[in-house]
Amino acid sequence: MTGTANTAREALRRQQAFTAADEAALEGLIAVRPAAAAPRPAPVWDDATVLEHTAVGDRYRRLLLATGTIARTALAGAFLMITVPPSGGERILLPRPMAIHRRHPEAGTVEVIYGIAGRGTTALADVGVGERLLVTGPLGRGFEYPPGARTALLIGRGVGVCAVMGSVEDAAAQGIEATVVLSGRSLPDLIGVADCAELGAAVIAVTDDDGSSGIPALGERLRAEFGTRPPAVILVCGAGVLARLAAELGAEWGVPVQVSLEAHMACGLGYCHGCAAPVATGAEVEGPLVCVDGPVFDAVLPGSAR
Ligand SMILES: Cc1cc2nc3c(=O)[nH]c(=O)nc-3n(C[C@H](O)[C@H](O)[C@H](O)COP(=O)(O)OP(=O)(O)OC[C@H]3O[C@@H](n4cnc5c(N)ncnc54)[C@H](O)[C@@H]3O)c2cc1C
Ligand code: FES
Repeated sequence: MTGTANTAREALRRQQAFTAADEAALEGLIAVRPAAAAPRPAPVWDDATVLEHTAVGDRYRRLLLATGTIARTALAGAFLMITVPPSGGERILLPRPMAIHRRHPEAGTVEVIYGIAGRGTTALADVGVGERLLVTGPLGRGFEYPPGARTALLIGRGVGVCAVMGSVEDAAAQGIEATVVLSGRSLPDLIGVADCAELGAAVIAVTDDDGSSGIPALGERLRAEFGTRPPAVILVCGAGVLARLAAELGAEWGVPVQVSLEAHMACGLGYCHGCAAPVATGAEVEGPLVCVDGPVFDAVLPGSAR
């Protein structure tokens, strides 16, 4: 990459979805995962019918979309790009990335849960049942259980829970004992409580309002719970500080950690090069992209053996 292109890349990097706290917490932590054994499914462009569109607590909305191919092929942790229809005469140009929260291959449906963040998700909230949404997916490289894993610790915060829920489904299907930390502002805000109950996963619910979601408190609780019997892998999404905690626990316990990252995305397909992952590279080397090299990366504490 030329010096000019690299400057442009730095400008793009500054537009990423990572907050300053996330960026600091992720510093030196992120590495592209080794090649997967299973091939990645090819994405499709589908006019998905909205079958249900409901509120989830006070803060989120849930879409049930009829999209058979995506429901059958999506791997855990994959995402969709959703093209939001024009709203109030205004065109919303770029599609919005959303994790596939649940896959129902037999029904040919997927679920997405989203929070209203800005223009696109505000317009998305107006889409009615029976309307069609152009969705592209499944996209990205998701979570993978290491061969032979029998236990797993999954950690999700806010809508970050949606990125790990596919792995809770896989755990149920593969007989892996999953414990899921669901983190959010308050108990009614937590996403995934009913899903985990349905899938037979143990839940550790932690919230901001009682302080249990704070990193020191959560770290202490997880060390007490798993210190003598660590899980085979830790999967995490939702905040840089959680990824760092997971990497610290992974280093202490000698287990691998995978983290799903967010970045502003224009295409989701590796074309626009606008979604740089927070991985330091040489000045002439283009770094990995969140949409195609991730969104799931390895999280390894600098200086640790893994
Ligand atoms: C792989 C991935 C999975 C995601 N899964 C979910 C999910 O399951 N549920 C959910 O609520 N949100 C999810 N997000 C975040 C979601 O894409 C943004 O909240 C959404 O794009 C905001 O759009 P907006 O128009 O309402 O906000 P605006 O701020 O108006 O958006 C302006 C532009 O910035 C982009 N943008 C803004 N915030 C983000 C962000 N945090 N991440 C990526 N792009 C952003 C938008 O796509 C748009 O192009 C995910 C993001 C990624 C990258
Ligand atoms: S979003 Fe376009 S390259 Fe990643």
